[in-house]
Amino acid sequence: MVRKYKIAVLPGDGIGREVIPEAVKVMNEAASVITGLNLETHEFECGGQYYLKNDREWSEEAETFTKNEADASLLGAIGALDSSGNVVRLPDGNLAGYSVVIGLRRELELYANVRPVKLYEGVPTPLANKSPSDINIVIVRENTEGLYYPARGRISEQDKNLAFDLRIITAKGSERVARYAFELAMKREGAPVDGTKRVTCVDKSNILSGCKLFRESFDKVGSEFKDISKDYAYVDAWTLFALRKPEFYDVVVAPNAFGDIISDLGGAIQGGLGVAPSGNIGETQAMFEPVHGSAPDIAGTGQANPIAAILSVAMMLEWLGFRANDQDPIEAAKLIRKSVEDVLREGQIRTADLCLGSWEKVKPATTTEVTEAIINRM
Ligand code: NAI
Ligand code: MG
Repeated sequence: MVRKYKIAVLPGDGIGREVIPEAVKVMNEAASVITGLNLETHEFECGGQYYLKNDREWSEEAETFTKNEADASLLGAIGALDSSGNVVRLPDGNLAGYSVVIGLRRELELYANVRPVKLYEGVPTPLANKSPSDINIVIVRENTEGLYYPARGRISEQDKNLAFDLRIITAKGSERVARYAFELAMKREGAPVDGTKRVTCVDKSNILSGCKLFRESFDKVGSEFKDISKDYAYVDAWTLFALRKPEFYDVVVAPNAFGDIISDLGGAIQGGLGVAPSGNIGETQAMFEPVHGSAPDIAGTGQANPIAAILSVAMMLEWLGFRANDQDPIEAAKLIRKSVEDVLREGQIRTADLCLGSWEKVKPATTTEVTEAIINRM
């Protein structure tokens, strides 16, 4: 029986509205090549631009479908500017669209924020003497608690000079994200340097209580995975190690805020935000999105690199396939990645963000031209 997958498509704001339609084209092309794959996409507006017109962040229909009916969702980015160039905010000060991106992560308990840091051939990295065979890490960031959980404020309205951010870390939250990291490492080929399957716990457990609990939880779960090497680094030191010897790292797991910071470092060494995909993954639901934001500086110019969104679609199809034990979406994901790899390696059709270093003289292509090249490959 052919299984049908329902996908909520949420382009959002800025370049989200440019790259998501391109990623959907690529996804539909994959579904037409892999005949057993049946995808049903439901597209909805959301974010700051929607809020300006409708006084809410998304429609009730969009929210209900995404939370209760979709097998997975694909989000572009949120973050709009109003006509005076100010960021569109809710009355509480949060970005308009906050409840879509942060709300989905929390309400659906999408506890693992998965960010592959892979350097593709043909992509310039700022690291000297490092090549694609050195950089293939997956950062798994805890996504539902920690410093970004809203327990923050000012001590009182009178005392505006004292602010606090309370960080809550639980054993449950830490163990489930650690388990995700170890299970992921089981499926991978190991670290580039030695082929060893390795999970590195990145924290600040020499000082912080929450990090001590995070590391204890990592050890507890890790003891079940005898074939995986356990590794530890304090977050400040890890930033240095990752630049010097990225080839040592396979899977890295970290509490929320530290995971956020180190994954931007990951984004830089893999060639920038234009090629950085991500997934927010829970027990039964998941949402996929490029790491980048709405990029108002280039929105509407056709310069946005669609590859981060396209690789996010590949992650989504792979997740759907593993979850349903269905080979078709997994094959579609492979086809998409292979086509992206080919276009990047050949090097001639790329957006301006990748026209650096050895590719400095390449004439930048538009968002659509890059998609067309990928689709032609498929
Ligand atoms: P950004 O990721 O939108 O842009 C940072 C820089 O990278 C810009 O110079 C941009 O032009 C470039 N860039 C980003 N994606 C690119 C792509 N696909 N191709 C080529 N160049 C690309 O981050 P920024 O400027 O800090 O934030 C802009 C807005 O997006 C803000 O409102 C922010 O709050 C929001 N944002 C939303 C996120 C989300 O929806 N998950 C994540 C990050 C930021
Ligand atoms: Mg970030």
